[in-house]
Amino acid sequence: MDAFTFYNPTKLIFGQGKTESLADELVVYDRNVLLVYGGGSIKNNGLYDKVRQQLEYAGCNVTELAGVEPNPRLTTVQKGIDLCKEHAIGFILAVGGGSVIDATKAIAVGARYDGDIWDIITKKELAEDALPFGTILTLAATGSEMNSGSVITNWETHQKIGWGCIFTFPNFSILDPENTVSVPKDQTVYGIVDMMTHVLEAYFHPAENTPLQDRICESILTTVIEAAPDLLDNLDDVDLRETILYSGTMALNGITQMGARGDWGSHNLEHAVSAVSDIPHAGGLAILFPHWMRHSVDVNPERGAQLAQRVFGVDRSGKEDRDVALEGINKLASFWTALGAPTTLSEYNITEDQLDEMADIASANGIFGNYHKIGRPEALEILKQAL
Ligand code: NZQ
Ligand code: ZN
Repeated sequence: MDAFTFYNPTKLIFGQGKTESLADELVVYDRNVLLVYGGGSIKNNGLYDKVRQQLEYAGCNVTELAGVEPNPRLTTVQKGIDLCKEHAIGFILAVGGGSVIDATKAIAVGARYDGDIWDIITKKELAEDALPFGTILTLAATGSEMNSGSVITNWETHQKIGWGCIFTFPNFSILDPENTVSVPKDQTVYGIVDMMTHVLEAYFHPAENTPLQDRICESILTTVIEAAPDLLDNLDDVDLRETILYSGTMALNGITQMGARGDWGSHNLEHAVSAVSDIPHAGGLAILFPHWMRHSVDVNPERGAQLAQRVFGVDRSGKEDRDVALEGINKLASFWTALGAPTTLSEYNITEDQLDEMADIASANGIFGNYHKIGRPEALEILKQAL
């Protein structure tokens, strides 16, 4: 394995009913709070009222930024930064899914920066500070609640960029499975696919001697594969929500990648797809990931075969590793299809003439992928297969 240093300062507050602990967490922070949320799901499920009550108990003055969109936009981030500066905000509370949390990370940095936040997101400038922020997660998917990553879309330039720094770990995150019960079926499926791809990105790495890392990844995947179909039949089941919520956080809080950095090429490709066509992140991944896996099967067939055997129960006896790996990929794709995930880009009305632009964006910084290094021709090939 590679030598590594692990750093993750986020205080994780997990469990049924834990929303009630918000006021206790808030007391150590500035009372001038920006409350950030999305398009209204928290008003429909009652969480907004609970949060406002807790903010009141903690004696906070609250300014709101509502309407953060899925695939959050730079323009919305800028609105949040302006509000912070105008109202002397000292703490931000994000209540929502990955999009709300990602936008909050950019707002937190932008509020303590005099220049253009896009320069930091595009890594032209380094962040030197940020406002503290906490989150209440409402959708199990991205892991943003316990990592420093943020993905922001600039529609003027058609760029969807992942970035992050030591200041963009949440100070605390409250994960109450009850807050995820209202997530509709399609978003629940997207969340499941997203967390699985985070584990798979980590699994396909070039490091050697990673037996524990492999087993950690395999156990998250097998747990999700076991719970997901039951959850989709019982969306109100809080215990199943709890299992999926915990899995989503563990899938991308850094633990799976200790000593082995994963590939992340499929995420880069998906971000290029949703920079051109505003589709759900995990919808794109469900389509692209199996094609990337087939395209990459010869990089290390043994690794693909190990995954197929241990996670998808493929019998390896008397077979070539490559064939076992391909069987595993087919089982993964069928699993996602059975959950109701999309299988082709055309299902999102993406057309062949858009693929070149997507391949350009994906390879704008040259070769990408840490396990399978691919360039523009391969990116275009995968996109064509996915159409
Ligand atoms: O906006 P509201 O009304 O809240 O509705 C949202 C939104 O429409 C809804 N929703 C969330 N919680 C709900 C709920 N509906 C009912 N009940 C609830 N409890 O779900 C919809 C999607 O929300 P969104 O936050 O966009 O989903 P997700 O958490 O999947 O986040 C996707 C974004 O995260 C980025 C993606 O690229 C995408 O922009 N990612 C962030 C990562 C990170 N920070 O580490 C890693 C990921 O790979 C990913 O790239
Ligand atoms: Zn993802």
